[in-house]
Amino acid sequence: MREEAPYGGAPQNLKRVRTRHFQNAKRTGIKITGLTSYDQLTARIFDEAGIDFLLVGDSAANNVLGYETTLPVTVDELIPLARAVAGAVSRAFVIADLPFGSYETNSDDAVHTAIRMMKETGAHAVKLEGGERSAEQIRRIVDAGVPVMAHIGFTPQSEHQLGGHVIQGRGAGEDQLLADARAVEAAGAFAVVLEMVPADAARKVTAELSIPTISVGAGPHCDGQLLVWTDWAGLTQGRIPKFVKQYAQIGQTLREAARAWKADVEGGVYPGVENSY
Ligand code: KIV
Repeated sequence: MREEAPYGGAPQNLKRVRTRHFQNAKRTGIKITGLTSYDQLTARIFDEAGIDFLLVGDSAANNVLGYETTLPVTVDELIPLARAVAGAVSRAFVIADLPFGSYETNSDDAVHTAIRMMKETGAHAVKLEGGERSAEQIRRIVDAGVPVMAHIGFTPQSEHQLGGHVIQGRGAGEDQLLADARAVEAAGAFAVVLEMVPADAARKVTAELSIPTISVGAGPHCDGQLLVWTDWAGLTQGRIPKFVKQYAQIGQTLREAARAWKADVEGGVYPGVENSY
């Protein structure tokens, strides 16, 4: 096994993607790929496909548990999902999200939650939302030996404060975006998600930071791209954000399969002799 590709980045024959491969990718311009995953079946498939990191996002609140926003999901609800994902991969770097309410109150709470996530799931890093306001929490978690992916721009856990799903970093907001980016880098984050910010603002942040930027609707200039797998694969029902490109229509495929099976059962076609003992 080669530890490093000649060009840097995270080569396919790596045994395990590490934080240093995120850094190499930034240096060499190799794009980093990430998808969310909430279960062992998709985790294994995405890992085999060579996706560099899997995020057990608090978007599981909407996509697994059926909550309207990400706010209600708890640490106890995310832990079994993160354990399933971390246990299923061999190459991908697994990041567990810290849910709303589990790290904001003080940095002791943040360290406690991060350590729980690492001990009880086998994830390789944690992610939390917020720039300047979360810098102390990031610093304390990193000091405890846990890599942190930061998340700035549109932060879904603050959607009520932000007035809904609103693009961040526009106009005067660009200065705050840059300040947030500098703060999380200085606090020791190994990478930062930029969600729903104009491509030009993301370009400036990416040029200024020495840690990689990961775009979720932040355009092509970031060092990597991350999407919510259920949006990307056509499983999510309802509104899909403009920045998502769908690479499959799994929802339609499942609907057609369910209809065909129901018709076969009702018509006496299933089970056939070949499906019976
Ligand atoms: O939970 C999640 O899926 C996320 C991404 C949208 C960044 O935080």
